[in-house]
Amino acid sequence: MTFSSPQPTPVSNAEGRNGNYPGKGIGEPVGVAVLGKGTVGTEVLRLLAEFSDNLAQRIGGPIEVRGVAVANVDKHVGSPEVAGIEVTDDARSLIAREDVDIVVELIGGIDYPRELVLEALKAGKSVVTANKALVAAHADELSEAANDAGVDLYYEAAVAAAIPVVGMLRRSLAGDQVQRISGIVNGTTNFILDAMATTGMSYADALAEATRLGYAEADPTADVEGHDAASKAAILASMGFHTRVTYDDVYCEGITKITAEDIDAARQSNQTIKLLAICERLVDASGETTGVNARVHPTLVPNEHPLATVDKSYNAIFVEAEAAGRLMFYGNGAGGAPTASAVLGDLVGAARNKIHGGRAPAENPYANYPVVAFGEVDTRYHINMTVNDRIGVLADLARTFSESGVSLSAVRQEESGDGAHLIVVTHAAQEKRLQGIVDKLAGHADVQAINSVIRLDA
Ligand code: HSE
Repeated sequence: MTFSSPQPTPVSNAEGRNGNYPGKGIGEPVGVAVLGKGTVGTEVLRLLAEFSDNLAQRIGGPIEVRGVAVANVDKHVGSPEVAGIEVTDDARSLIAREDVDIVVELIGGIDYPRELVLEALKAGKSVVTANKALVAAHADELSEAANDAGVDLYYEAAVAAAIPVVGMLRRSLAGDQVQRISGIVNGTTNFILDAMATTGMSYADALAEATRLGYAEADPTADVEGHDAASKAAILASMGFHTRVTYDDVYCEGITKITAEDIDAARQSNQTIKLLAICERLVDASGETTGVNARVHPTLVPNEHPLATVDKSYNAIFVEAEAAGRLMFYGNGAGGAPTASAVLGDLVGAARNKIHGGRAPAENPYANYPVVAFGEVDTRYHINMTVNDRIGVLADLARTFSESGVSLSAVRQEESGDGAHLIVVTHAAQEKRLQGIVDKLAGHADVQAINSVIRLDA
């Protein structure tokens, strides 16, 4: 096994060391502050009450919820999940309470929760958060604060809710070399693409159905434009490659331009269109790692690939590691109860450490590989265009590819009204080179329209 490794930079307190972080002792209560009582917060509080005896056994001491911070107290007072629990709009005072050991952040957004989480960590409270946007934007700052204070920072629920993928990268594959992570990490968009494929409905109708069923948010922009998946890709790449990858490093393209015709064309070629988050470790000819890349875009996946069968609003993450080989994790990636399950798992871990001492293994971006821009990465294109139906047009257009050093894997032509539909599938080539070809084709006298460009899982 060859692990190409840069010189490791020790990160203080990056790994938990029992003894350095003394515990409160068996049987002592663990005080918890819950920030936010939306769908997930409500479910967390409900499960904490329902499982309290079991959780106390598993932790070694009872969890006691000291308070719940919300924006509008009147809206929540009297609801059963907060019976006997203080409800406040003063999150800062709740966090600062001496008897709060762990803060569970379920507010959403970035700036305000960032302030609260930093305040909590600096005050020596462990933090559990489901906030992908926060972690993807500010993991460096948050991790540093957690390391300085010697407390835990957990965020399993930030990626694919109940699917234990962050813990898997953090613990289970901690001794391996992850090569690639590709996943369906957004339930709303998978529901839309699946509905389009199985019923033939348009993107707009599928989005309306996703909204009606409660999968999509009232403003589904973050889902359909890929931003939600990009945050998750940043977290997965950071954990998997021991390298800081932030939201801004992730190339992001959503599903808003996918048409029923694209879905149909995919079906005809035994493929399925999925919105994939792809995190890759790039290697040179000698196997040395040259960098990492993370991206989100609609992707043609062969029907025989395990990710092609992931339907409805399910998520799945496919991991390739040097020693472990191929692994796939599948399940509910969204929703109150599945997300609460991940939050509770983290909470049990953080609470155990408060009782018994020690810290959980933290992320450690020691490898510090360069984050390679998407344009430099090899991809494959499936280009669907309408062209003039004249003798020699195919040879002419094929030259545009060969002149740029890109070889074709398949070409299909279909009669279509005034022109011909030409579908071209390339072999792997540098993304920016392929983009350059599409630009040239768009200006070609024989190309009436570029109908769609969809990448293949290279
Ligand atoms: N809106 C997300 C999804 C869930 O549809 O998967 C939270 O990340």
